[in-house]
Amino acid sequence: MKKEENHLFVIFGASGDLTKRKIISALFSLYTQNLLATNFAVLGASMDEFSDESFREDMKNALKKFGDETTYDEQRVDQFIRLLYYHTMKLDKDEEYKKLDDKIKSLQKKLNIEPNLLFYMATPPSLIGVIPEKLATIGLNNEKNGWKRIIIEKPFGFDLSSAMEIHQQLTGSWQEHQIYRIDHYVGKETVQNILVTRFSNGIFEPLWNRNYIQRVEITSGESIGVENRGGYYDHSGALSDMVQNHLLHLTAITAMEPPSSMNPDAIRNEMLKVLQSLKPYKKSEVAANVIRGQYLNATIGNEKINGYREEQGVTPNSKTETFVAMRFFIDNWRWGGVPFYIRTGKRLPMRVTEVVIHFKPTPHFLFHNSARENLCNKLVLRIQPDEGILMKFDIKTPGEEFDVEEAGLDFHYSSLSDQRIAPAYERLIYDAQNGDSTLFSRAEEMIEAWRFLDPILSEWKQNSTIPLYGYPAGTWGPPESDKLFRGENCGTWRQPCKNLSNDGIFCQL
Ligand code: BG6
Repeated sequence: MKKEENHLFVIFGASGDLTKRKIISALFSLYTQNLLATNFAVLGASMDEFSDESFREDMKNALKKFGDETTYDEQRVDQFIRLLYYHTMKLDKDEEYKKLDDKIKSLQKKLNIEPNLLFYMATPPSLIGVIPEKLATIGLNNEKNGWKRIIIEKPFGFDLSSAMEIHQQLTGSWQEHQIYRIDHYVGKETVQNILVTRFSNGIFEPLWNRNYIQRVEITSGESIGVENRGGYYDHSGALSDMVQNHLLHLTAITAMEPPSSMNPDAIRNEMLKVLQSLKPYKKSEVAANVIRGQYLNATIGNEKINGYREEQGVTPNSKTETFVAMRFFIDNWRWGGVPFYIRTGKRLPMRVTEVVIHFKPTPHFLFHNSARENLCNKLVLRIQPDEGILMKFDIKTPGEEFDVEEAGLDFHYSSLSDQRIAPAYERLIYDAQNGDSTLFSRAEEMIEAWRFLDPILSEWKQNSTIPLYGYPAGTWGPPESDKLFRGENCGTWRQPCKNLSNDGIFCQL
């Protein structure tokens, strides 16, 4: 990192979950790799009372609990936490910002840090627009003497109009190049690898279109429930929490045209075009194309799992969806007529994210004795776990007949024993520190994603006949999500296993 990138990293919401689980371990990891600037410090700010020392202890415990076990080293942790400072403040009070400014200036002076500032909003959604405005009123957005950046986390609003409002609030005082909107999925190594798979291999791109691809399927499932985030989640739901950002970005990366270069704007322009081409749902199409569900209690093994409505922070008659599956189209030349199926949910059988490209069957099938007539080749891009790529194709079953069976060619990242896959937050924080916005979203992307989802949200709100299906925890969501395929050839969801190479109902989860 260059000297002029010395900076103070200010975390709003420093006593919260995100700081403990993700931000501090990402910073510690960068520290152990010597990737932090020479003169660097973290200033945590929130309303909870901490001294520098007690904040350091708290973060040390967080590193023990949530950090990467393989890199945890007591001595290095003790050195790292000396970089941490704390300032107690009420984040919504104007008068507190002057004191924050004084604290920042005194740290910059004491530690010889240039006036570059990176502000991380690890706060409740209601403060995302407010804090940047307050920073601006005391000039902490002014780049005359050094750069000023803000990293913001979703949710960027809860529908199109609230997203526009936050956008206006932010851009009233900050310029677009200063705003880093995180979607941590885009920071995942395996998501970036979709670009390399597509654009560095001559064999895939000629097939990557409506002529050869029958459908695209994207699953992002989690085995956990809402844990201690019921209060937030109950106002959000799977559509806003996962589809608006992670799944639509995965769609955009899978479907985009080759960018003219790896320049941030060239890539983001192509992603934006995909989001602009999503075919909007008419109100009357929502019920048949978007299935929502909510997990119910169940006993898995010997463990009794609460239903969503029994979770802490969730209203007992909540109608918030914890599962969504949807079918949609991208109206452009490459994808015209190719259905995209995406699903995401909590309390599914396993944590898995993957993109599955289903190719069209051969125009004529020669092997009539086979049960595989009309089955399709698949390319599976596994984002997590067992990160890698799997190609499924047909081979001759050894024997006298021309029987056909499916075989797999697979690549597992775990076989690259000398390569570490950096966690998404580490990569993204590093990029923001270095002013590289390639993997961050622009305002237009966020707005287009909301524009696409808005008719669903309003139809769900207004039309009480649209069902919210219950599904027992530990299952793949409501069976109604299978009906989205409408009897299409090879039309079911792939049933993934923990091991990328397997699938089916008997796999080890
Ligand atoms: C977050 C969502 O953005 O992504 C969470 O708010 C979800 O609800 C998480 O659990 C999933 O991320 P990952 O990286 O574990 O797949």
